[in-house]
Amino acid sequence: MKTAVFIATSLDGFIARPDDSIDWLMRPQYLIEGEDYGYADFMSSITCLMMGRRTFDVVRQFDSWPYVDKRLIVISKSVAAVPSDFQYRAESFVGSPSALLQQLEADGEQGVYIDGGQLIQSCLQADLIDELTVTRLPLLLGAGLSLFGDLGVELAFEHRHTQSYQSGLVQSRYRRLRNPD
Ligand SMILES: NC(=O)c1ccc[n+]([C@@H]2O[C@H](COP(=O)([O-])OP(=O)(O)OC[C@H]3O[C@@H](n4cnc5c(N)ncnc54)[C@H](OP(=O)(O)O)[C@@H]3O)[C@@H](O)[C@H]2O)c1
Repeated sequence: MKTAVFIATSLDGFIARPDDSIDWLMRPQYLIEGEDYGYADFMSSITCLMMGRRTFDVVRQFDSWPYVDKRLIVISKSVAAVPSDFQYRAESFVGSPSALLQQLEADGEQGVYIDGGQLIQSCLQADLIDELTVTRLPLLLGAGLSLFGDLGVELAFEHRHTQSYQSGLVQSRYRRLRNPD
């Protein structure tokens, strides 16, 4: 089972402003008709999502539900994270990411999309992520929620691909290198 991250950041590495807003991702100059920046291909490579409870709190406010036909599990340390009106769309899991991944593997899932800054950081600290795709936007936010923060661990990756888009976005894909020698 593959675990993967697919996320957009500012040039200074933030995934949201300090108040959680992500309006800067939706600027008209980045929204090119017919260009999804590889999102559909990526989604076809995964079978379910493991999402941090704070990211779920943002996406459940979206006008349209973006995860049709995908199993979505919201992870939390303490609370049942999915309100009753969303329980037909998402499952709650209270526990560690490694325990959830073991369960997903046993369920026969093939690929897991890991989303949410804190969740990605704790998965990296436990070395649970196989693939990282980071799309950088050409702006400095100056402050916000950092994608990587101070992880406190060193992890090597193999660069697989970088693509630049006319809109100025630059996307790089990395594969975790667990045996660099
Ligand atoms: N730029 C992008 O592409 C992008 C993508 C995704 C999200 N975002 C933005 O990022 C922000 C949310 O990210 P975030 O970093 O604040 O939070 P997050 O990772 O989405 O969610 C954090 C919460 O997830 C749960 N969690 C995280 N690690 C856990 C672990 N090891 N074990 C169990 N539960 C764990 C905890 O829930 P409890 O507190 O319930 O215990 C924690 O408070 C939002 O502003 C969102 O819009 C941006």
